[in-house]
Amino acid sequence: MPDFTVTPWHVEGDIDYDKLTRQFGTQKITEQLRQDIGQAAGEDHFMLRRGVFFSHREMDRILEQHKNGEKFFLYTGRGPSGDTHIGHLVPWVFAKWLQDRFGANMYFQLTDDEKFYSKHDMSLEDTYEYAMQNALDFIALGFDPEKTKIIINTRNIRTLYPIAAQMAKRINFSNTKATFGFTNETNIGMIFYTALQSAPCFIEDGPVLIPLGVDQDPHFRLTRDVAPKIKRPKPALIHNMMMPGLGGPGGKMSAAENNAIYTTDTPDMVRKKITKYAFSGGQSDVAEHRKLGGNPDIDVSYQYLRMFFEPDDAKLESIHADYKSGRMLTGELKQILVEKINKFLCAHQKKREEARNRMGEFLYEE
Ligand code: TYM
Repeated sequence: MPDFTVTPWHVEGDIDYDKLTRQFGTQKITEQLRQDIGQAAGEDHFMLRRGVFFSHREMDRILEQHKNGEKFFLYTGRGPSGDTHIGHLVPWVFAKWLQDRFGANMYFQLTDDEKFYSKHDMSLEDTYEYAMQNALDFIALGFDPEKTKIIINTRNIRTLYPIAAQMAKRINFSNTKATFGFTNETNIGMIFYTALQSAPCFIEDGPVLIPLGVDQDPHFRLTRDVAPKIKRPKPALIHNMMMPGLGGPGGKMSAAENNAIYTTDTPDMVRKKITKYAFSGGQSDVAEHRKLGGNPDIDVSYQYLRMFFEPDDAKLESIHADYKSGRMLTGELKQILVEKINKFLCAHQKKREEARNRMGEFLYEE
């Protein structure tokens, strides 16, 4: 049994990111590349600085092209099988920053077909409804309506299909089988699906950059193999780590209601979930904790602050030091996180409500 699994449909175990980088054949983001991105963007981003975005494919080429005055566009997406949780927001918040800094167009794909194929208990109506819900979260993050289009697979198929067909003709069954572990029992919707996730890579003529969770990389490994055969540029990727579920490393974020914070959670739900379920790196009692200190590396509350909720390095460092030394107790750390999440969600939920009237500005019309 492998100690961890990362595929587009299944993430489990304590992920060893060095090993994963080798397995997937991606490049680690070097200090030099991080600086180059910061320089081109005109500022650094805490998710880069802290290694939340840790790996890439040809991000250096995108910067080179940008330097030479060539415009790139952005693409990312969501498989609408449920409500949005805070892990989904990681690539989107970073994508918004990229749009702001580089003035790039953005395409956001909602794959209602994919989730219909992959979830035996969901109808197309269910996945479409979740697509609408997930779109609200995406819009709420503040993307520029002049430069952003939301693509829904079942609605925008006329645009996607001719590109998907080009891809599908050049990906054979043994490629997809080897990449995704499909079997003879896998439905043929799934087998074709990667062609559809590839399609937005070629919706504009220029180069594309895809900020995404590393679990989605295998689709684009196939896309990159095919791109030269259809005389199109290979998509470039920048990958983020997976935010752990509340239960700690090894737990899949969405496996259970109580294993994730959703964007629609009330302040009370957030408080309860964090207090009760967030895996703690603290000691079993206060005296021990004061003596030995906590372990922020495995503490989910600390990791949520590091990956998302506390962009201020000085504040994060002081929390790290206090927790590690035992000066700060688990309960106090959780309290800090609860306040941060609730402040974020309060603002987000307001913008999410406003987004209901703004859908038309974002939906792709062919
Ligand atoms: P989906 O809906 O599983 O996830 C949406 C995005 O969120 C990332 N992600 C996470 N990031 C950090 N921590 C987590 N716990 C976490 N869980 C999910 C995913 O990597 C993804 O970037 N098939 C895709 C939808 C899609 C797409 C794309 C994604 C269509 N086109 C282009 C990325 C790029 C899916 O089901 O994503």
